[in-house]
Amino acid sequence: MLNKIKKIISKKNKSKIICLTAYSKNFAEEIDKYVDIILVGDSLGSVLYNYDTTRKVSLKNMIEHSRSVRMGIKKSLMVVDMPYQTYRNRKEALSNAKKIIKETKCEAVKLEGGIKIAKIIQHLINNRIPVMGHLGVLPQSVKGKFKSKGKTEKEKIKLLKDSKLLENIGAFAIVLECVQTSTSKLITRSIKIPTIGIGSSVYCDGQVLVTDDLLGLNKTNIRFVKKFIDLKKVVNQGVKKFKKEVLSKKFPTKKYSY
Ligand code: KIV
Repeated sequence: MLNKIKKIISKKNKSKIICLTAYSKNFAEEIDKYVDIILVGDSLGSVLYNYDTTRKVSLKNMIEHSRSVRMGIKKSLMVVDMPYQTYRNRKEALSNAKKIIKETKCEAVKLEGGIKIAKIIQHLINNRIPVMGHLGVLPQSVKGKFKSKGKTEKEKIKLLKDSKLLENIGAFAIVLECVQTSTSKLITRSIKIPTIGIGSSVYCDGQVLVTDDLLGLNKTNIRFVKKFIDLKKVVNQGVKKFKKEVLSKKFPTKKYSY
């Protein structure tokens, strides 16, 4: 197992795991200093391309953005989402996961689902491809509005079973998306690999958010998104200043001219 992955697993019950998304080099470069995991999420479909579903994200989209992200990472573990319909069976999944790793130099891939795709995940792991699981709300399977998971006893038991299954087949961590608090707490306490929550309570071993959301760059009213800063304001200030100086012929001075 990769040292970076061992280190992430060893954080369980000691220190929270920090994970953020990145879709390009410049963001990855800044984020890398503060996080343990950088995820090239297929959320890039809605954030960058205005797609109404992550199902429209292609393997080519993921590989191109991931290649850019790779250039910005020095220390974090790089995980890339396998997009919709790239892991419908074992052969397809292995061939696409190998392609992603070869072309992007990422260290792991993330797939959405539990028992339904367990054999596929197992096949990747048997072929030495590190896998991060993803349970709860599975955006690649949702049509329309997202509903939280793990509220009923039935859902709770199913999520717990799926989490244990992913642990047993060798996933190194599991993203829990919009999983009700008592369920995410139970799962986190019941498995030895870390849970990374998104809208799934403080009891998870780590947290992930979409970077564009936390920086206020992406308009969204999803409950789990906290805007930690309004980067739009900063961008506006910079662009306004540039415009003003160009209009008043203050820019470019000699210093900025050849
Ligand atoms: O696509 C993504 O960015 C994700 C995270 C939100 C977990 O899967």
